[in-house]
This record gives sequence, C-alpha cells and structure tokens, in this order.
Amino acid sequence: MSTTRHQSKPSADAPASGAPKLHVVTFGCQMNKYDSELVEGRFKRDGYETTSEIDEADVVLFNTCSVRDHAEERTWSWVGELKKVKEQRPDLVVGVMGCMAQRVEEEIFKRAGHVDLVAGTRQFHLLPKMVAELHERRGAPDRFTRKERRLLATDMAEDVVVDREGETFSGGRHAYLAVMRGCDLNCTYCIVPTTRGRVRSRSIDELVKEAQWYADQGVQVLTLLGQTINSYGEDSPAPGPGEPMMRGRKGRPSLADLLYRLEEVKGLERIRLITLHPSYVTQSFAESIRDCSKVEKFLPLPAQAGSDDVLKRMKRGYTLDLYRRRADLLREIVPDIELGSDWIVGFSGETDEDFEGSERFLEEQGFLVNYVFKYDPRPKTKADEKLEDDIPEAVKKERNQRLLRVSERIQRARLSRYRGKEVEVFVESLSERDERILLGRTLHGMPVSFEGPASMLGTLQRATIDETTAYGMAGRQA
Ligand code: SAH
Ligand code: SF4
Ligand code: F3S
Repeated sequence: MSTTRHQSKPSADAPASGAPKLHVVTFGCQMNKYDSELVEGRFKRDGYETTSEIDEADVVLFNTCSVRDHAEERTWSWVGELKKVKEQRPDLVVGVMGCMAQRVEEEIFKRAGHVDLVAGTRQFHLLPKMVAELHERRGAPDRFTRKERRLLATDMAEDVVVDREGETFSGGRHAYLAVMRGCDLNCTYCIVPTTRGRVRSRSIDELVKEAQWYADQGVQVLTLLGQTINSYGEDSPAPGPGEPMMRGRKGRPSLADLLYRLEEVKGLERIRLITLHPSYVTQSFAESIRDCSKVEKFLPLPAQAGSDDVLKRMKRGYTLDLYRRRADLLREIVPDIELGSDWIVGFSGETDEDFEGSERFLEEQGFLVNYVFKYDPRPKTKADEKLEDDIPEAVKKERNQRLLRVSERIQRARLSRYRGKEVEVFVESLSERDERILLGRTLHGMPVSFEGPASMLGTLQRATIDETTAYGMAGRQA
C-alpha cells in the first residue's frame, strides 16, 4: 500500500496552453495505480496531455482510498489545498474518483464545494465524457444551476470498460494488470466490498491481449491484481456442453489457466501476483506456480491474525489449521515457495493471548514480507456495527511495534539463508544514488543490488549474495 504524493504544491499560476492538461494524484493500493493509468490513457486519446505539475493542469483528479481513515484524511487535505487555486482559476476542473468517492458520494460536494466531479470505482472510462459535459454546462449558466454544474456517477451496476487500443504505455519495464475487480468475501473489518462491489473477472483472452500489448511496448514485469486473485474465474459461467473444461470449479476458468497462457506471452520475463486468499489455494493453482517459470515464487497470502477466535470475528473464512494446510500444499508442490502476510493488530476483542498467537504464527510460517496495520473501524462494516473497537490506541500501537519487531527478526533470518548463495536476478533499474549499482529482484521477489553496467537493464543475471538485511540483499555479479 503506498501513496503517490511527489507532486509539487499547487499555486494560483495557470500557464496552460495548447492541449488541455491532466494531473492525477493517486492514493491507495496498486489497483488504484492501474486505474489511474487507465484514466490517463482515456484522456490522452481525447487529446489531453498529462502533466506532473498540478499548476499546469486544466483537470486535476484524485484517485482515492478508503481502507483506513488515515487514507481518507490525507485525501481531504489534498483536495482542500485546491480550494484557493480554484478560486483564482475557476476554469479548473477538480474531480474525485475511486474508493472514497464511491463510499461518500455527494458528501464530497458538501465538504469540498470546489469539487466538480465525483466518479465511483466503476466509472473511470466515463470521466473524459463527464469533463466535456461539465464544460458544456459551464458554458450555459442560464440553463444549468450551480448544482447542475457538478456531476456524480457512482452506479455499481456499471462495468469498467478496459480498451487500450490506440494508447501508448510510457511506464517503463513494469506494469499492473487488474485481472478482476471487486471482492465477494465479507471480512467484517473491510470496506473494500462496499467500495469495489461484487467480483467481476475479465476474460482470459482479453487479459492475454492486454499483457501482449504491454509486452510489445517494452514491459517485462507484470503485476497481476485482484483482491482475492486466486478466486479469479469463480464468477464466470461453467462451460456448456462441447465447450472446453478449464481448471477451475466445474470446469470454469481459473488463475492457473490464466498463468499458463501468460507464460507464453513473448517479452514478459516476470509475473507477480497480488493478493491471494487461503480459501482459494488449490492443487492446480499450486501446480501452475511450479510450472510457470516466469511466475514469481513469492505469494502474498495474508493471515491477518494468529487466533481462531479473532479470525472468526473477522469472518476470514479459515482457521489457523486450514491456513496451515493450504500453505503446506503450496510448499509440497513448490518446495522453495516464500509467503508474505498482512496483519491487523488490535481488532475487536483481541486479548494478549490472541495477539501472541499472531507473533507465534508469523514465526511458525516464516513469512518473508509482512505488513502490519492497527485496526481502524470503517463506517457501516459489520465490525463497526456489531463489534466494539475496544482495544485502546496505546495497546494497538504497542502490538503494532511488537509484531513489526518479530517480522523484522524473521525476515532477517529468512533472507540470511541466501548469504553466499547465487541467485538469479531480473535487473529492473539503476540506483538513484549511484548509477553503477543495478537494482533487481530474485525469482522470490526479493530486492537485490549489485554493481554492473547499464546494459544489463532488462536482463536476467546471476549474482552472489554478500549481505542481507530484513528487507533485501546486496551482492556481486556471479
Ligand atoms: N484483499 C486483500 C486486502 C485488501 S486491504 C486481502 O484480503 O488480503 C489491504 C490490507 O489492509 C488488508 O490485508 C488488511 O490487513 C488491511 N485492512 C483492511 N481493512 C482494515 C481496517 N479496517 N483496519 C486496519 N487494517 C485494515
Ligand atoms: Fe477485504 Fe476480505 Fe475482500 Fe480482502 S478478502 S478485500 S480483506 S473483504
Ligand atoms: Fe484502498 Fe480501494 Fe485499494 S479502499 S486499498 S484503494 S481497493
């Protein structure tokens, strides 16, 4: 989870000229980064240019996140900063889209009167049209009231339309690809099912086409996205008589089927997956990880908690034993698999003993990467309505730090096993601090730095590991 916030602060100068310019500020997860790219592509096709300077933009869009309150507060503060700019440049179009837009809808207009557009999580493709419509309404103030010179589109029945025909990708070697949208589970703490709606998996053919489109433009590393990505295809119809059976339930398409196809896309070198759910780990999925040489042998498989009581109150749909069985299945079929986990500390009713369970489970499973969050009740979720947020902030903080300390120790120990060993590294970039240093990742997704010529960018190299920390490794060309 990260936020792109390297843009310059807005001021009232407005040197816009030539083609209209778009600036997108992206908060939240990788899905939002992908969606922001889709939006930029749409606008470019309509004659817009993108700019990294808010000051130059004619249209500023905020792609927002609701997963924790902090994410929303940051958005409000950013949106607020545009108020003065808008007073001096009334032509500026300010839009809010994504998860927070979907969640709070009209309230955005109430809290931030200078916002012109609100678009939910399934309306990205409509945004250029919405901006055009807005301009039209602004040009006819006698026909449209002030209220009508604002537009809102948040219908969840809508489907995002992805069509990249005629677009160019300028993002470099790495790209995101959402293979599905939405989430059909209902973890009691989570806002995502509300903001992203029911699962819609895209077709394998469509995804292979988009992956090839990326590869043709120089993309070598593709991160596949889905909230429960290994449930991909579960919402598709089962094949009818005479239609080919696939690897999913009752012959449906599954993530394994997609991976075998993507493995064949020329130009791709690495395929990453975000995020898996223990309930959908199957034999055929594990086999596809084993068989597909381009697919990373690191899987984010969040446990969230190390206590059956807490997991039950979270409605995660598994016990620790079931998690163990799924993880063991993966390890049996892919012996060198590495797993990562997200954790929520201080969830409703979490006792000291429950929390210690998380410490123990992290250690037992030896997770290579861990993200720890303090429970934050989200409005209208089951946990917010039916359970109490009864763990004091100070305790949440302390547990957060304790679990981070355990994860650092485990990650350090796990990575230290690579010391003195030779690993294969896909070289992704040059170090910003020293151009002689190459940065890449192992097949397990672990960052490696080593000295080498820039000509190695975009190639697979072998490196011997000299040093390791809790977060990455350094070595030399083997
Ligand atoms: N679909 C993914 C996670 C999406 S949200 C999955 O099921 O694993 C990313 C992470 O944010 C979650 O894994 C969880 O650890 C954390 N998170 C979600 N809701 C939260 C909340 N209300 N408070 C604190 N952390 C939360
Ligand atoms: Fe949220 Fe649970 Fe769905 Fe993940 S699986 S997005 S945590 S409801
Ligand atoms: Fe945030 Fe929505 Fe992603 S709530 S984490 S931007 S799915």
